[in-house]
Amino acid sequence: MASPQMAQRRSPPPQQSERIELTNAPRFAPRLQTQRISNTGMTLPMSKRIVLSSDHAAIALRQTIAEHIAAKGWEVVDLGPTTPESTHYPERGAEAAERVASGDCALGIVLCGTGQGIMMAANKVKGIRCGVCHDTFSARMIRQHNDAQMLAMGARVIGEGLALDIVDAFLDAAFEGGRHGTRVDMIKALEA
Ligand code: RB5
Repeated sequence: MASPQMAQRRSPPPQQSERIELTNAPRFAPRLQTQRISNTGMTLPMSKRIVLSSDHAAIALRQTIAEHIAAKGWEVVDLGPTTPESTHYPERGAEAAERVASGDCALGIVLCGTGQGIMMAANKVKGIRCGVCHDTFSARMIRQHNDAQMLAMGARVIGEGLALDIVDAFLDAAFEGGRHGTRVDMIKALEA
């Protein structure tokens, strides 16, 4: 019978090159598998836990997005609200951003009437990079070039179909690192 040491020798750890290959998967890879760390070339497995939040202006769209993302295999942390009373987007955006900044969730999607107010609030949380996107190109690029962890959209600006396409573009893209890592590090230095 093989000793534990021999068994270990037969199962070498995964090579780093295998993991980098996942990061370099085609633009529309169905799942985001790894996250490149800064411009070092290192990659880490990325959790599939995502936080959603909105103010009263975007409840229905948020719930539609939650269902869509869950069907794609993500664990959704939906912070609400579920009832239509007026609520404050700065609180909603900050609460979601804290979940991402703390590492509890890998990514976040926040919604309000325009997407602008809740994006501004999310970006006040240290370490968060959140962009408003109302087109799929921008949604893909804020992941690939800016390593944004959060996407903001306005429920009074776009319809459900486009919003879901934007969500897909955001989730299916991966940070490219390299020169973009240098620039993201420069953004981080502004917060230090
Ligand atoms: C709420 O009426 C509205 O101001 C808010 O949803 C958002 O558009 C702010 O940026």
